[in-house]
Amino acid sequence: MKNILVTGGAGFIGSNFIHHLLRVETDIRLVNADALTYAGNLDSLADVADDPRYHFVQSNICDGEQMGAILRDFQIDTIVHFAAETHVDRSILGPRQFIETNLVGTFTLLEAARNYWLNEKALPLQSVRFHHVSTDEVFGSLALDEPAWTEDTPYAPNSPYAASKAGSDHLVRSYGHTFGLPYTITNCSNNYGAYQFPEKLIPLIILNALEGKPLPVYGDGQQIRDWLHVEDHCEAIHLVLTKGKNGETYNIGGENQPANLTIVETICAILDDLRRDSPHKPHRNLIQFVADRPGHDRRYDMDTRKINAQLGWSPRHTLEQGLRDTVQWYLSNPEWVDAIRQRQEYKGWLDANYKSREEKQ
Ligand code: NAD
Ligand code: TYD
Repeated sequence: MKNILVTGGAGFIGSNFIHHLLRVETDIRLVNADALTYAGNLDSLADVADDPRYHFVQSNICDGEQMGAILRDFQIDTIVHFAAETHVDRSILGPRQFIETNLVGTFTLLEAARNYWLNEKALPLQSVRFHHVSTDEVFGSLALDEPAWTEDTPYAPNSPYAASKAGSDHLVRSYGHTFGLPYTITNCSNNYGAYQFPEKLIPLIILNALEGKPLPVYGDGQQIRDWLHVEDHCEAIHLVLTKGKNGETYNIGGENQPANLTIVETICAILDDLRRDSPHKPHRNLIQFVADRPGHDRRYDMDTRKINAQLGWSPRHTLEQGLRDTVQWYLSNPEWVDAIRQRQEYKGWLDANYKSREEKQ
């Protein structure tokens, strides 16, 4: 692993992963290929922008020529593929972009890798790897009494987002099986932590609470996610890249499964403590139940015994401490937050997603 292409590195997990890699690896060259959609944010990487090991190329994974040129120009031996459309609610209001980016984009990137590594034989095959970052949502939804998902659980995606990620996983696997493209896949649960775009549950609740705005909880708030601290996730991906076996998939989960309402209430309690003078205390009074997400998955739970047994990984963060650190991070980075809040696209999204929900309730 010398010349690494990170796609979607200006997003939430990608930017954390770039920070992680530059912290723990010295002898690498890292290229961040990101189209800078609404979710891409170079502010998240301002501190590494001048690092000689780091290069940013504004580029779209759906552009095969551009991807091919990056692979050749930087002699890329490792691709860590994060770039995607990622928000379930956006996939319900507008699924087309999810098909374009997650399916066509992943296909285009796979073709570029196949061409450079397998057809042109540019690098020794044992030195290359296509790593695909995927989600637990490909497995569908669990009833309360069902066991956690393993790597062998059949796919049953429920949202257009989950279906597009499931399809991209299948494409990656097929390129390994048919063409011999070296690959690994990780399916991880809901991440939280620094630099998460504030349309996802945890940062949205923190920022709304700070402003005294309603805290929207979909449906009855009893849906369960398996919350994973983003730094634990980055460590797991790094391990899979260095020690994971070609052609394998690994589940990554946080071993934390509270209901959404509990997450929201915990954030409120942390803010009550950290912002003792807030006029919005107690913040839990801001909770508002709103119309549910169509097709809302009830419960996610990842069985992580494989990555634990084979690579020795387990999450280090407790949810309680991780949430406290995350709230603290958003309190300490008002410039990062305000730059997003001022964007018209962001305001438009909040209107599109929440106005009709409040009216339906
Ligand atoms: P994000 O939405 O925060 O960032 C996505 C990034 O991809 C952005 O920087 C965006 O500009 C870039 N991008 C989008 N389309 C692109 C294109 N066509 N070409 C190049 N760049 C493009 O996403 P995230 O939360 O960091 O998720 C990263 C990956 O992890 C995704 O593949 C996602 O499916 C997966 N994942 C995320 C979570 C989670 O909780 N966030 C959970 C499981 C899996
Ligand atoms: P989200 O952060 O959108 O992630 P995902 O849909 O990938 O799980 O949502 C996490 C959970 O929180 C999910 O069950 C939906 C719920 N949710 C709310 O209750 N209110 C909100 O405003 C949002 C954005 C999500």
